[in-house]
Amino acid sequence: MSFDILVKGGVLPDGRQADIGIKGRTIAAVGRIEAEAGRVVDATGCLVAPPFVDPHFHLDATLSYGTPRINASGTLLEGIALWGELRAEATVEEMVERALAYCDWAASMGLLAIRSHVDTTDPALRTVQALLEVREKVKDWLDLQLVAFPQDGLYRAPGGRENLIRALDMGVDVVGGIPHFERTMAEGAASVRDLCAIAAGRGLPIDLHCDETDDPMSRHIETLAYEVIRTGLQGRAVGSHLTSMHSMDNYYVSKLLPLIAEARIAAIPNPLINIMLQGRHDSFPKRRGLTRVKEMLAQGIEVGWGQDCVLDPWYSLGTADMLDVAFMGLHVAQMSAPAEMARCFEMVTAGNARIIGLEGYGIAPGCTASLVVLDAGHPVEALRLRAERLCVIAKGRVVSERARNDARLSLPGRPASVARRHAAGAPVAPR
Ligand code: FE2
Repeated sequence: MSFDILVKGGVLPDGRQADIGIKGRTIAAVGRIEAEAGRVVDATGCLVAPPFVDPHFHLDATLSYGTPRINASGTLLEGIALWGELRAEATVEEMVERALAYCDWAASMGLLAIRSHVDTTDPALRTVQALLEVREKVKDWLDLQLVAFPQDGLYRAPGGRENLIRALDMGVDVVGGIPHFERTMAEGAASVRDLCAIAAGRGLPIDLHCDETDDPMSRHIETLAYEVIRTGLQGRAVGSHLTSMHSMDNYYVSKLLPLIAEARIAAIPNPLINIMLQGRHDSFPKRRGLTRVKEMLAQGIEVGWGQDCVLDPWYSLGTADMLDVAFMGLHVAQMSAPAEMARCFEMVTAGNARIIGLEGYGIAPGCTASLVVLDAGHPVEALRLRAERLCVIAKGRVVSERARNDARLSLPGRPASVARRHAAGAPVAPR
């Protein structure tokens, strides 16, 4: 048997050493392989993982930082107002250009599937036109899912509901919402009921920005869980952010988590953004801007880390690196035990793939031939180093390569050497 690409000598996330044979767009064999190949990728001693997946992003706003001005207060609400100014002026061409530039970054970081919310507030729906065009342009190497997101409210913004429906008619994949931004708690709850009915009626998944606030009384996740069960959306619903849960009463949460588990709702905290945005009204002690990640995992709730923003009205940094996202999440959620750190790597790869329903994902015969070779020996080392992506293969094609980032040292009183941070030999991967 011969292969188009043979990845030799790598270590899989579960610690197995395996070569990977690729034919066309499919993984044809995994194991000890001695065979001819059109191209051999040397991955000796390196972690070879399925690609990173980002389940929560905003491609319409990305790479716009400073346009038309900086978010001076650093709050979510000023970010929404600032985005409103930019949205009024942004052209389809400019949004396509920014989103494609971000997708290039993503490929270089081994990030090959993104669920992006797309703002449906402006009736011209240039945002939707732009991202539908991008979805088509990147489809041979990146899976892009779009969520119809009424940023200024389903009911609060004039035409909000109608524009969301029009976006779905244009081919947007998922129903979005923002109940905590509606005028009242009651309108927020009504929007959740309405959006679940829309999703169920159209056979679409639902993914709401839900309770992205420090207000412990913001409890739209409870309504979402109830409505998901009532409308039969179990396993197809996501609550993004859920930051209010951080501040909720513990007794209430003890009743809420089993309900979320029963509804099989996945949770997507976005640690880089929420550690930056939340708690801005606090003095000290200042709350962490993160939902209850370990507690949800303990209840069997699927939790995935999302990136949310890069260089936009809400966040002034970012590199399309899901290891950065998991690294921040690990710290803020205090997931420091070896198994918890390994879980954080799993969350930004296979876990996120499950949440967005990605087909053909994984490193096994028959899966899509997408993977990333990391300059690390195992998943926790990849997190510690935010390891270089040495080679990225997307749907059977090598799309990105880079050299190792070792420093050559010439220190007084020390022999010339190389500072190699990837542990030599065969480090033990924590299970
Ligand atoms: Fe978001």
